[in-house]
Amino acid sequence: MAVEIATRTMLADAEAIAEAAHILQAGGLVAFPTETVYGLGADATNGAAVARLYAAKGRPRFNPLIMHVADPAAARRLGKFDAAAAALAAAFWPGPLTLVLAKADDCPVAELATAGLETIAVRVPDHPVARALIAAAGRPLVAPSANRSGHVSPTTAAHVAADLNGRIDLILDAGPTRVGVESTIVACTSERPVLLRPGGVARAAIEQVLAGPLGKPTPAQAGAPTAPGMLASHYAPATRLRLDADEVEPHEALLAFGPTLPPGAARAVAVRNLSPAGDLVEAAANLFAHLRALDHAGARAIATMPVPREGVGEAINDRLKRAAAPRST
Ligand code: TXA
Ligand code: MG
Repeated sequence: MAVEIATRTMLADAEAIAEAAHILQAGGLVAFPTETVYGLGADATNGAAVARLYAAKGRPRFNPLIMHVADPAAARRLGKFDAAAAALAAAFWPGPLTLVLAKADDCPVAELATAGLETIAVRVPDHPVARALIAAAGRPLVAPSANRSGHVSPTTAAHVAADLNGRIDLILDAGPTRVGVESTIVACTSERPVLLRPGGVARAAIEQVLAGPLGKPTPAQAGAPTAPGMLASHYAPATRLRLDADEVEPHEALLAFGPTLPPGAARAVAVRNLSPAGDLVEAAANLFAHLRALDHAGARAIATMPVPREGVGEAINDRLKRAAAPRST
């Protein structure tokens, strides 16, 4: 980016939220907490603001973004709900679920925010600061995770600052985020809803509401540039990850899970445990912070213990697999 701007961090009290809303209305960029990860917010109806956001993140190309709205009524002005979408919204909003819908007629969102697609991704976040900010701004906000493109998502204001200082106007600090992995994305644009990204809401909970299995993404949905969350190396620390490690090799750091550490743990360069008790919800909340910490430990690689795949464990395994994939750049 050509020009450095002064980035301020403020505790997310009522005064700071009001100021943040003014910055957004004027086309500026504000990072704010959601229940999943910190998002980088911009006015979704302002194409120039959305363009500035892509530049600040250093995104290699214009990927479609998620619209963050205050309530289901606001979501219905952006997208068309079929019966499945209505049932999922009723069950999980506010909360870590994003619905991809056919775009509503007269949708006020800038073309750039949806990358020109005929579909739109929408969610109602479950965080008091996010909801107050959206309400005060009085418009939908786009909010990709508030990290530089290719880095792991931020779960604290300090993570945001480390990535985006000098590139955005304001960071609202409300402490660490509760869920820790991004929202689950479900497309309701065909007969059977399709899981596009595992996340904070478990597949089983969604399938229970739908009273049937989620569909698999078509090759087009899985591979298209319209789904960059699915780019192999999307969530990548600089240090290589070695998955499903059953021992720690020399000069490795250890990302542990559960009470029993593998052989060689004592010689690890650094150790972080996602959840010593083996709790998947706690592990999700710790995932990105621990990856960041181990990335800075100077290790040759990060040995990663296996994590069960049930519940939010599906999202944890998805992010670990992406973090371990060879870099695209
Ligand atoms: O939890 C979250 O969802 C966080 C917080 C900040 O809300 N946001 C987030 O945004 O993860 P981002 O930009 O990092 O990921 C957006 C994902 C991408 O994988 C993108 O491809 C997908 O949403 N997406 C957006 N619009 C889409 C569409 N019309 N069709 C398919 N996928 C879409
Ligand atoms: Mg992201």
